[in-house]
Amino acid sequence: MPKSVVRRALEGFHPYVPGEQPPDGEGWVKLNTNESPLPPSPKVIEAIKAAATDQLRLYPSPTAAPARQAIARRFGLDPTQVTVGNGGDELIELCFRAFAGAGDTVAFPTPTYPLFEPLCRIHEAAPSRHPTEDFADLPASLGPDPSPLKFIVNPNSPTGALFDAHHVEAAVVASSGVVAIDEAYVDFAPRSALELLESQDKVLLLRTFSKSYGLAGMRIGFALGSRDLIAALDSVKDSYNVDRLSIVAAVAAIEDEPHHEQVVGEVVRNRGELARALEQMGFEVVPSAANFIFVQPPRPAGEVVAALRERKILVRHYDREPIAGWIRITIGTREQHSKLLEALKEIL
Ligand SMILES: Cc1ncc(COP(=O)(O)O)c(C=O)c1O
Repeated sequence: MPKSVVRRALEGFHPYVPGEQPPDGEGWVKLNTNESPLPPSPKVIEAIKAAATDQLRLYPSPTAAPARQAIARRFGLDPTQVTVGNGGDELIELCFRAFAGAGDTVAFPTPTYPLFEPLCRIHEAAPSRHPTEDFADLPASLGPDPSPLKFIVNPNSPTGALFDAHHVEAAVVASSGVVAIDEAYVDFAPRSALELLESQDKVLLLRTFSKSYGLAGMRIGFALGSRDLIAALDSVKDSYNVDRLSIVAAVAAIEDEPHHEQVVGEVVRNRGELARALEQMGFEVVPSAANFIFVQPPRPAGEVVAALRERKILVRHYDREPIAGWIRITIGTREQHSKLLEALKEIL
């Protein structure tokens, strides 16, 4: 697009760049975008097939009502405390639409999910960055920051570190605005901030079906929070932001908790095995509560990542400070890990 027609606020804009998504069926070992290595519940596939009917000519429920109700039941909440979005990413964007706009600041610890920075530019808000110490501790400066909107990704990405629950609560209590706790990876962690919803009405929890439910391809996320915050998100969303197939997929997925637990259990077990194997090979490994691990290889990361790519293994490489030289590896199956470790032995 000619530069002259783009909003002046977007001059020099760096968009968010998603991880490489090669065409299906080419045999890649894909450990770069934190998808599930295991398929969704068979009940989800059945539900999608059953919903692929003539009824697709009709719009979906504008409130994705069946999904809201099923999610509310699962968490013991009222449906008015739940909203559903086109992936967790849409819910993050709705937070900007509802709570922070031009001239506002939006606060978050760094390093973290790189989507917040471009969204600040798009909404003409200024990022208020709070660097973490050793990736592990939530910065004490975050709570007193007066921003009307804050994000805490917990477990954090790309580090996998889980911030201390008391520190998160203290940051929420000290905040005057909305605190969105992005729990995209929380199912792989020992605890969530769900209890905070009982006492803190300025907290939103953002979740997704993309990771532990194996549904990245469907694009479904949900937010839990007080009625007022959920109503604020609903008031700025697009009318039909979640399609019919996604709604039935969400219901079937949230209702098949045994399948979900099985996936999470396997990923957590594989995470421990991979972390130990990489440590033995001389990698520095950040303790992870997510479905990926953040590691620094004993040789320059760029070379290692390129050599893995030549062997059709994709991982995520970071080349900007403070995480230059680090690699994020999605937890895969044992078979995928064997291929990765074999390749790394050759490369190193
Ligand atoms: C921290 C974080 N939040 C939210 C998301 C959103 O995921 P989705 O839009 O697939 O639900 C991701 C995806 O990678 C993520 O890493």
